Amino acid sequence: MALSVSPAISRIEAPPIAEAMTWLRPGECNRGLLNLCQAVPSYAPAEALQAEIARLAKDPEVHLYTDIHGVPELHTALAQHMAADYRGRISPDNVSITSGCNQAFCAAIMALAQRGDNVVLPSPYYFNHQMWLDMLGVEKRLVPAFALGRTYPLPEDAAPLINDRTRAIVLCSPNNPTGAIYPASIIEAFYDLAKASGIALIIDETYKDFRSSPDPLHGLFARPDWQDTFVQLYSFSKVFSMTGYRVGSIIAGSKVLAEAEKILDCMAICAPQISQRAALFGLAELEDWKRGKARLMEERREALLAAFENPALSYRLVSSGAYFAYVMHPFSRLAAKAVAMRLAGEHDVLCLPGSMFGPEQDSYLRLAFANSPAEDMPLLVERLIESQGPLGTTR
Ligand SMILES: Cc1ncc(COP(=O)(O)O)c(C=O)c1O
Repeated sequence: MALSVSPAISRIEAPPIAEAMTWLRPGECNRGLLNLCQAVPSYAPAEALQAEIARLAKDPEVHLYTDIHGVPELHTALAQHMAADYRGRISPDNVSITSGCNQAFCAAIMALAQRGDNVVLPSPYYFNHQMWLDMLGVEKRLVPAFALGRTYPLPEDAAPLINDRTRAIVLCSPNNPTGAIYPASIIEAFYDLAKASGIALIIDETYKDFRSSPDPLHGLFARPDWQDTFVQLYSFSKVFSMTGYRVGSIIAGSKVLAEAEKILDCMAICAPQISQRAALFGLAELEDWKRGKARLMEERREALLAAFENPALSYRLVSSGAYFAYVMHPFSRLAAKAVAMRLAGEHDVLCLPGSMFGPEQDSYLRLAFANSPAEDMPLLVERLIESQGPLGTTR
């Protein structure tokens, strides 16, 4: 008799990036693929970081497990970094190091919610957030993440959805997939709502370093009792171009971290020590390098915005920032996935359909522009225009 698998997992859609790769026809793309699919830095880690990793590999201590929450030096360095960046107060005890921000999300949600509970989530959302919630049987209560004239969700849309089974509001800013950076006042209002409701405010801030203004994204870490409400998730993947090293963090109060510790112990015991030490080096030594890369991303975004000014283009930018642009496609009778498959198969542009990021997103595509040099943006627009056909638009 054949084995059976868990229905709780088998009903979840396959991982989106892997699916999108199948839309390409191997060997047939003879003019160079414009790959705007996965949000991966298009450049190697800093030379100095590569050298440090090579040095670390020879240190016998580095081959060992660390504490479940990570190495103490990294707690201190990250607490100091965040306290400076957000002009707040964070103790090293509030820091847990994880194997990437995805694991941080998994542990934070599992620590807070169980089957039958619910969380408030702006839609479109980061698909791995949705997948994990669905796997756990935690209901998503969706609020619109943008509308005409605004690119962020509203606390007043979230408030009526909160009931006695709500455990958290989950935000992502700078946002994946829209790129939008939520105004500090909106984030603070979500915090006030979460606090008044006795639930957590989780914010995935993976892209926090890719913002054009040096101002803090919000003032939550300056609130005297932020530990009772706020859970910040972060990733070292993009900031130091070390996606394969798997290191991220949860910053939260001891109540959440005590539960997360049990989960992290079972999942991976600890984040790889060599990666933690590399992250520590990055925080100490790579501030200028990091700023240079953030400027590079901003230049790419500006080049994209300029290219989208082309009057022949019927695709419309809804939102952009950090690594992403969210774009309305011009085909009113085509679902986003059909458009994305056509772009991949016929026009050598790989991107993700909005439908992978939530319901009612069939008019949109996510372009991870961070992957492409600024010089390629006019070419991208040329290929989008080519995809419109002779009529230009059908919307
Ligand atoms: C919003 C968001 N969170 C988390 C992650 C994953 O980060 P990590 O590589 O640290 O697991 C990504 C990666 O694309 C992301 O876009």
